[in-house]
Amino acid sequence: MAGVVDAVEARGRLAFGPVAAGARLEGSKRWMKDVLVEADVPTARHGSFTQGQEEEALAFLATLPGLYVVKTDGLAAGKGVVVTESLAEAGDAVRAYLSGRAFGDAGRTLVIEEGLRGPELSLLVLCDGSTEGVPLAPAQDFKRIGDGDTGPNTGGMGAYSPVPFAGPELVDEVMAKAVGPTLAALRRRGVAYRGVLYAGLMLTPAGPKVLEYNVRFGDPECQVVVPRLASDLAVHCLEAARGRLETPVRFADEACVTVVLASEGYPASPRTGDRIDGIEAAEALDGVTVFHAGTRLADDGSLVTDGGRVLDVTAMGPTLAEARRRAYEAADRVSWPGRRLRRDIAERVA
Ligand code: AMP
Ligand code: GLY
Repeated sequence: MAGVVDAVEARGRLAFGPVAAGARLEGSKRWMKDVLVEADVPTARHGSFTQGQEEEALAFLATLPGLYVVKTDGLAAGKGVVVTESLAEAGDAVRAYLSGRAFGDAGRTLVIEEGLRGPELSLLVLCDGSTEGVPLAPAQDFKRIGDGDTGPNTGGMGAYSPVPFAGPELVDEVMAKAVGPTLAALRRRGVAYRGVLYAGLMLTPAGPKVLEYNVRFGDPECQVVVPRLASDLAVHCLEAARGRLETPVRFADEACVTVVLASEGYPASPRTGDRIDGIEAAEALDGVTVFHAGTRLADDGSLVTDGGRVLDVTAMGPTLAEARRRAYEAADRVSWPGRRLRRDIAERVA
């Protein structure tokens, strides 16, 4: 238990793994997949391989039906996942990961998965150590760098909530088939998990399947879910930590959209140190908040970029369309050389 709470504090993109209290946390996708299989949670078929097993890994890849996913077992800041229709490209990733060339030790163990198709959905669930979590409102994240879901995976380029195609029945189904059994499986492993369980889901024609869990709020999902919360987040967190969620979670009817502004070169090699202008003008717009992710103050006191994903320009509005309009109007007031963003966040649903 203590170890998993540590995980919430360990920043970054991780799957939870068993850790001794106080130990440095190593995310492990393989461990997570084992839990999913044990709990009979719908998930992609997978195999996991480690250094020296290149041949076995390539042979497993060849058994998959046409969309290949290769993931580092350890943390890679959301960038250790290759999704491709090319068997050759997937094979190259396997070789680069296992040799340590791509991600050092984080890649020397990897997970290969069958690729799933369908819209993605993120469900953040408050957990108090029991096997019944309390779901927050679903959100949708946009993982690829480019418009129309093209280009490499990122940590997330934008998000919105509510999600019109994720009604209460879908949330109930995910809680019953995925989250509940997962919390029960964790309990059997001696983990009474308290905190936020983040379920990354793919809504496939065969029903929702879990792509991954994280033990933290999602980023940028958090930026669109928490502003919509009408009940008190601090109260919910305190109750989760004390082991008994009681106060009902309530959400405002308003919609929220966030657009990530990223650096030139993100995700491969983001350039940093560019001077940022226009945040005040953006926040002067109705319903707009700009969250900082990768910024710092330079010696002369000016604000400069300091990471791949730099700012989350977030807007509330009476509808998704209006929240989206505000978010983009605000985003366009913020500038620095090489700033990049996706233009299609929440476009389809708005
Ligand atoms: P993960 O770190 O496991 O969440 O993977 C990052 C992103 O890669 C996901 O949000 C998906 O966009 C994509 N992805 C991961 N696993 C799969 C899969 N089995 N099929 C299709 N896309 C996937
Ligand atoms: N937006 C994906 C994540 O936080 O893992």
